Amino acid sequence: MAISRVSTGLKELDTIIQGYPEGKTILVTGDAGVGKTVLGLQYIAEHCENGERCALVATEESPEDLRSQAIGFGWDLKKYEDEGLLKILEVLERRMIEARFSDPSEKGMEIHLKDIADWIPENVTHVVVDNVGVYALGMPVERFREQLDLLVFMLAKKGCTSLIICDDAVGEQYNNVAMYSTYGAIWLFRRENPYTNRRERLIDIRKMRSTEVPLDYLPFEISGAGIKILKTSFDD
Ligand SMILES: Nc1ncnc2c1ncn2[C@@H]1O[C@H](COP(=O)(O)OP(=O)(O)OP(=O)(O)O)[C@@H](O)[C@H]1O
Ligand SMILES: [Mg+2]
Repeated sequence: MAISRVSTGLKELDTIIQGYPEGKTILVTGDAGVGKTVLGLQYIAEHCENGERCALVATEESPEDLRSQAIGFGWDLKKYEDEGLLKILEVLERRMIEARFSDPSEKGMEIHLKDIADWIPENVTHVVVDNVGVYALGMPVERFREQLDLLVFMLAKKGCTSLIICDDAVGEQYNNVAMYSTYGAIWLFRRENPYTNRRERLIDIRKMRSTEVPLDYLPFEISGAGIKILKTSFDD
């Protein structure tokens, strides 16, 4: 039986990969400012607009910052929260308190990563965790893999289709390991276009099980309407 798909929130990406595989976890990596959070917010906005329940786990930004970032794209997170469609879970505060008042030992951090799934309310079908990179700091790479595997397992058990964001700052070693835990992996990056000499943003779909994926990088731009994939050979 063919796997069910859910919208990525990007019309063009839905055409290219038919959406994310339902009930699975996709790892989103990329360096600072490349567009990881926007990709996550766009996914959440799409499904809240459809009346589906979503959760956004924030480890680095406050809910207030995320709300104001989202409103810049016309996505009213507050409205979704008021409608009971969105729950923003702030891990940031718990993490700060922990770091300040106790020894931020590996053990303490580990508990957090796997506990994330427990905090997701029932009936949530779409989850974005932004981002798990902070948990890797000071954690041996194999322990990080174990923790992430567990989180992925728990999210799947809850029936959630999830994006787990991990910044490139934790290093390739961690990201490569993380990539094996998840069903799909997307890398966002910037490079100079040798023909135009202009910098561009690109999506590399590194893997998506059960899915035909393009080998080409997909150029995208971020505007007031969010992420848009620019014309590619797929349009021909
Ligand atoms: N309203 C907007 N219109 C156009 N571009 C915007 C708008 N808001 C943000 N951006 C662009 O989106 C980028 C931010 O993307 P985003 O916050 O998703 O990055 P990130 O990969 O999550 O970064 P970090 O690792 O710092 O969390 C900014 O660099 C900015 O150029
Ligand atoms: Mg971000």
